[in-house]
Amino acid sequence: MQTSTTDSTLELLQKATNTTDIIAALRNISEAFPGGVIFSTSFSWEDQAISHLIFSEQLPIDVFTLDTGRMFTETYSTWSSTLARYKQPITAYYPDAHLLQEFVAENGPNSFYESVDNRKRCCFIRKVEPLQRALKGKQVWLTGIRAAHSPNRTDMEQIEWDGSNSIAKYHPLLNWSTEELQEFIRRHNIPYNPLHDRGFISIGCAPCTRAVKPGEDFRAGRWWWEDADKKECGLHVHK
Ligand code: ADX
Ligand code: SF4
Repeated sequence: MQTSTTDSTLELLQKATNTTDIIAALRNISEAFPGGVIFSTSFSWEDQAISHLIFSEQLPIDVFTLDTGRMFTETYSTWSSTLARYKQPITAYYPDAHLLQEFVAENGPNSFYESVDNRKRCCFIRKVEPLQRALKGKQVWLTGIRAAHSPNRTDMEQIEWDGSNSIAKYHPLLNWSTEELQEFIRRHNIPYNPLHDRGFISIGCAPCTRAVKPGEDFRAGRWWWEDADKKECGLHVHK
């Protein structure tokens, strides 16, 4: 059951985003929730488009990334180019050293290939727990999720309530097509992850992401050794 705080947050967010102008929507949100809006970037091209808007419009929205320690070299390069281009802060959150040390000592560094439980534990330690720290005290979490990413994102709403983190979520690019996104990146000359030009569509950690063939599902390159219904890491939980 939703509380009245949840309802009033969602109502305020609905009002702030009731426009087709994406910059106006982001500005309205930052004004409606002063100091309470945060954006998570994985340096995907969706995230680069949102960072571009936040940084070039100087919107008071904090930007953070979850550095799992297992990201691609190209992702770290994209992070560097983004800092060089916009000269704006991106806060990195890291896994809890004790949890990670214990997990790796018990299971080895690549245990995510051995069982779904190990994979989920690795994702929890490297992403979900740091995410909980990043979102603490915030009211609105912006993400780069698009409906075209995967079948279970097609029926998502732009505004959602994340009960596990007690925060409202807003996905500004939910309904953008891949062509629209690519055109936006090109038009504004936004730095992007070069892996996107090599068949990588959805990019996560290096050991758990591979390129997909033309026509394959967007998420086919993530945790490819697991069943399709298990392919979420716990960052985004949809009811
Ligand atoms: S995941 O559920 O598979 O991990 P995905 O790669 O589709 O997520 O990205 C969806 C959104 O989640 C991104 O647009 C970004 O907002 C957030 N996200 C994913 N990975 C990270 C990360 N490492 N750091 C920060 N945000 C992330
Ligand atoms: Fe660990 Fe792979 Fe999850 Fe990254 S994607 S946190 S390496 S299991």
